[in-house]
Amino acid sequence: MKIITIIGARPQFIKAAAVSKKIREKNQEIIIHTGQHYDENMSKVFFEELNIPYPDYNLNVGSGDHGAQTGRMLEKIEEILLKENPDCVLVYGDTNSTIAGSLAASKLLIPVSHVEAGLRSFNMNMPEEQNRILTDHISRYLFAPTATAVENLNNEGLKNNVFNVGDVMFDAILHFENIAKNKSSILKELNLKNKEYILATIHRAENTNDINRMKSIVEALNESGEKIVLPLHPRTKKYIKEYNLKFSSNIKIIDPIGYLDMIMLEANSKKIVSDSGGVQKEAFFMDVPCITLRDETEWIETVKNGWNILVGADKQKIKNAILSFAPTNKKLDYFGNGKAADKIIDILEKNI
Ligand code: UD1
Ligand code: UDP
Repeated sequence: MKIITIIGARPQFIKAAAVSKKIREKNQEIIIHTGQHYDENMSKVFFEELNIPYPDYNLNVGSGDHGAQTGRMLEKIEEILLKENPDCVLVYGDTNSTIAGSLAASKLLIPVSHVEAGLRSFNMNMPEEQNRILTDHISRYLFAPTATAVENLNNEGLKNNVFNVGDVMFDAILHFENIAKNKSSILKELNLKNKEYILATIHRAENTNDINRMKSIVEALNESGEKIVLPLHPRTKKYIKEYNLKFSSNIKIIDPIGYLDMIMLEANSKKIVSDSGGVQKEAFFMDVPCITLRDETEWIETVKNGWNILVGADKQKIKNAILSFAPTNKKLDYFGNGKAADKIIDILEKNI
């Protein structure tokens, strides 16, 4: 089987790290990197430290408005698909790289496999919600990470070739957590002690593109008085500067970091404050309470189980949660058994 994997944004490199090595045990894989993320610490670092095979094609599309960015990808991906004629195209998640890859393949009648199918926020204002719904409806194989995701697909009439395989990000954590313990020195570098700091990430457009939401979030973090480490996504850095917002001295701003350092910062934090999809799940995997800077989440199980709280961009709610959110429930297993990648490849090998 010849598979073309299409990736382009940070979380997709991490997901591909879990799946690519399985693909390559028995099949041919060609990787297309769209170039959606391109800074060294948003892209190259992941290929190097996670041993992801170097992309066969880099489209270098860079940043841009949604239509322009997606359009540039679409045209270049189509050219490669026509030349390589794969048996299947594999896409991950819900970014512009995901919709460009799935649309290019679908129009050429090449079967699309969507990893992380069925996620829904039910908020169509999010670019990610548009990307994931469209991708699900043009995919041949839908690899859902949870039972909720399967239910969401079924509710939209998608019932064929829907597989609950578990979450490839759980596979990734299980594989890389010990490697991170051995290789990362981030705690020492930043002089951080176990459970004495909060980790924060912010990058979601619904927060960064709204000055009032960003102001409220920054003020809540400042006023909490807690030691907070914030690896700053380039999108957020740009808007913070534009809005002229200032962080106080309790917030330690660092550049985006590699996955191994990130795992260590997550595992040793006392709480996580984030609007990231991946980080919400990783907090759950590592028994760290998560305070989510969103009004809804696709990872609803983590909220139902009591380990994640939605606070939106409400300053008082964020401050209260930082002070007092303390889950005690026994955590349930929603995300599979760490073998999602094996299941995906087994299914594809049997069906293609
Ligand atoms: C994208 C995804 C989002 C995902 C996130 C993961 C879409 C619509 N959004 O959001 O779902 O959660 O990736 O991190 O696909 N930039 C740089 N250097 C880079 C990359 C980006 O400076 O290497 C800056 C540029 O100013 C760019 C902005 O960040 O305009 C946003 O990048 P973009 O890829 O468009 O969206 P993300 O916010 O990263
Ligand atoms: N991550 C990382 N370095 C960082 C911030 C995040 O390695 O500085 C990892 C994080 O551990 C998770 C993934 O990137 O595995 C999440 O990506 P992101 O938050 O960019 O996107 P989302 O998951 O919201 O789509």
